[in-house]
Amino acid sequence: MPHIGVFDSGVGGLSVLAALRAELQHESFVYFADTAFAPYGERGDAYVTERSRQVAAQLIDAHGIKALVVACNTATTAAIHLLRSEHPALPIVGLEPALKPAVATSRTGHISVMATRGTLASAKYAALRDSFAGTATVRAVPCDGLVKAIEGFDTAAIEALCARYMAEAGPFGHATGEVDTVVLGCTHYPLVKSELQRHAPPSLRFIDTGAPVAQQTRRVLASLGQLADGGQGGLLLQGSGDLAVLEAAAAHWLRQPRPSDAPATAAA
Ligand code: DGL
Repeated sequence: MPHIGVFDSGVGGLSVLAALRAELQHESFVYFADTAFAPYGERGDAYVTERSRQVAAQLIDAHGIKALVVACNTATTAAIHLLRSEHPALPIVGLEPALKPAVATSRTGHISVMATRGTLASAKYAALRDSFAGTATVRAVPCDGLVKAIEGFDTAAIEALCARYMAEAGPFGHATGEVDTVVLGCTHYPLVKSELQRHAPPSLRFIDTGAPVAQQTRRVLASLGQLADGGQGGLLLQGSGDLAVLEAAAAHWLRQPRPSDAPATAAA
């Protein structure tokens, strides 16, 4: 059974892969971390588009993937239309900051969206905000440097940046004018949710898109009759950077690799 391809600029998409593996237990995945070219979020659209095209082509050529999940808000924003037009027969699932559920569930009507500068500056994000913000007040918090710190396992930088950006995202609470919901609009950020939570009251709601994207992937595959209906599935790890680092990150963030998981393989 062919794999489902999943990619991100680095380890962030592992937060989406964890949700995909929980939702689609019989599927096999090939995860590509474009670490040598990360971060995407503070570069321009042309750069992100070109990297996305190359990674998608590699997953298609080397693995004949049956679907592609763009596990990166920045790459979705910059490149998903192009990827879909270049590969019309391939189901491609992307993701975007979860503004709609945040607005639907916020009681104070004050929401902060933490994401990369690229995502927040995009026309796609502006359209999303215009469609769903309604009367809510939505604050954009570009988190420069946070992806780089996560990629580098730089705990001191992660701690300092989480404190800084949570201060920008607040004040938090349930009173008028206070933020009660934070959208994690970059797939790296759920990986440091516990560090972010340290700077917020326990009642603050964080919303990310891992589970909805996994459910959408199931719906798309089911509608095409392409769901795997048995077996244990598996996982291949690939990337443009150091595979040992990716393996360590996957072992850490996916928590329980399945027994059938293959050893990591180098990118072609
Ligand atoms: N994880 C990616 C996202 O969801 C981008 C990170 C980066 O800046 O490379 O936006």
